[in-house]
Amino acid sequence: MKVSFHGHAVVKIETNGTQILIDPFINGNEITDLIVEEQRPDVIILTHGHNDHVGDTIEIAKKNDALVVANYELATYLSWKGLRTHPMHIGGAHHFDFGKVKLTPALHGSGYVTENNELVYMGMPTGVLLTAEGKTIYHAGDTGLFSDMKLIGEMNDIDLAFLPIGDNFTMGPEDAAVAAKFLQAKTVVPIHFDTFPKIKQDPEKFVQLLGEGIQARVMKAGDVIEL
Ligand code: NI
Ligand code: MN
Repeated sequence: MKVSFHGHAVVKIETNGTQILIDPFINGNEITDLIVEEQRPDVIILTHGHNDHVGDTIEIAKKNDALVVANYELATYLSWKGLRTHPMHIGGAHHFDFGKVKLTPALHGSGYVTENNELVYMGMPTGVLLTAEGKTIYHAGDTGLFSDMKLIGEMNDIDLAFLPIGDNFTMGPEDAAVAAKFLQAKTVVPIHFDTFPKIKQDPEKFVQLLGEGIQARVMKAGDVIEL
């Protein structure tokens, strides 16, 4: 399985011949290496309805007839935009052809700003557990620290965890380091930093806070991990 990071919260996974894009925020994302027109995903998974996560989903999904997996409210909204969707919700898992997806809690907001500058409710924000080829990836979405991450870590053998460290809107480095301990993932990758001035962050600070025993990997946009 090939897992790559593309700036902000954008993660691409290639497994069993399926290409999955998580939170494809490309236009307006100054630190991504991706170009909207070049994306060919089979599946798009969204953690929540904020614009810096829904991103270019509508354009990319339409062009590729990609299946969009998201919480019920966001999936319903996107189905009204003509997209093929699979609604789920927190605590629920589903076995797709490419693997198993489970939505987990996240402490955050989820309003989507439309082209008319209306703020539309998009349901509860989520994290994502994706299991494929015997490996489990956890994308925390946007969230503050919560102690149930301990339970997520106990119940899942996580190979790779993407954790926000940008502070202001999500966990900062200190809280994300506690999250990493709770989750007991084999490798943790800091995300959701440096995209905007409010979330400027030194990822090495996060790595130092982890201490011994937790392996961190600071990925730049375009970096790949083979699992
Ligand atoms: Ni958000
Ligand atoms: Mn965000």
